[in-house]
Amino acid sequence: MTNIFEFRDVHFDYPEHDGGSALSGFSVSLPQGEKIAVVGRNGSGKSTFFLHCNGLYRPKSGQVFFKGEPLAYDRKFLQRLRQQVGLVFQNPDEQLFNASVTQDIGFGPLNLGLDEGEVRHRVQEAAKACEITHLLERPTHALSGGEKARVALAGVLAMRPQVMVADELMSSLDPWVRLSIFEILQNFHDQGGTILLATHSLSVVRYWASYVVVLEAGRVVFGGTPQALLNNSSVMTETGLSKIWWKVDPDFPEKAEFNAS
Ligand SMILES: Nc1ncnc2c1ncn2[C@@H]1O[C@H](COP(=O)(O)OP(=O)(O)OP(=O)(O)O)[C@@H](O)[C@H]1O
Ligand SMILES: [Mg+2]
Repeated sequence: MTNIFEFRDVHFDYPEHDGGSALSGFSVSLPQGEKIAVVGRNGSGKSTFFLHCNGLYRPKSGQVFFKGEPLAYDRKFLQRLRQQVGLVFQNPDEQLFNASVTQDIGFGPLNLGLDEGEVRHRVQEAAKACEITHLLERPTHALSGGEKARVALAGVLAMRPQVMVADELMSSLDPWVRLSIFEILQNFHDQGGTILLATHSLSVVRYWASYVVVLEAGRVVFGGTPQALLNNSSVMTETGLSKIWWKVDPDFPEKAEFNAS
């Protein structure tokens, strides 16, 4: 089994964070081609972990590997890495900085050096998939939160990455858009893509994910299939997951809906 990412004993501190390390001895191996749900309480380190995946953050100690290769932090390596690893931020305002939606979606492909026609094609295609074609000429700052999240996702899709790392992508989206985003993710997965999705929805863990990573206080306390997690009574008890595992998420009622395509 090939690993798309491996983190080996990663430590990371924020300069203004006086309560200890955000990641402290963070180790995990993530299999390629899976739909990976990342769960953990607020502040457990999900976003910090994701920001290491495309080299935006660099470990204080320890190492990150992408497809077996240790990350380097020079411009050339990072540019290559970011073509392959698309990150949708938890807060789309941190991701979107161009004047219009079209420019925002096209920014990445343009930076890849693609010609204008190809960029236009990719923008149209990604906008259609994310149902934002009608917003293309709008200024990005004047969109709703959910619309911004869809623009951010379209910008990542337009890069055609191998890995999509999405930080709580669903939380600001209406239930109709959520379903269509799951279809987009399914398509992406069917074409061989690996997905990392940070989520607070246990329905997503149980019905969508093929692999789940559980974080607690800056460490990984479990990595495996959802069934293996359920069978692991010590992790289930110690993380408190056993108390909420059966909690139904009203926006995700049916297993079948995750696999609709
Ligand atoms: N910019 C920052 N400056 C200082 N500390 C930070 C910063 N961002 C996060 N932290 C701290 O790092 C730890 C991990 O935070 P992180 O944002 O990775 O958690 P999370 O699991 O994504 O949480 P959430 O579910 O709320 O999104 C927390 O203790 C948090 O307070
Ligand atoms: Mg977060």
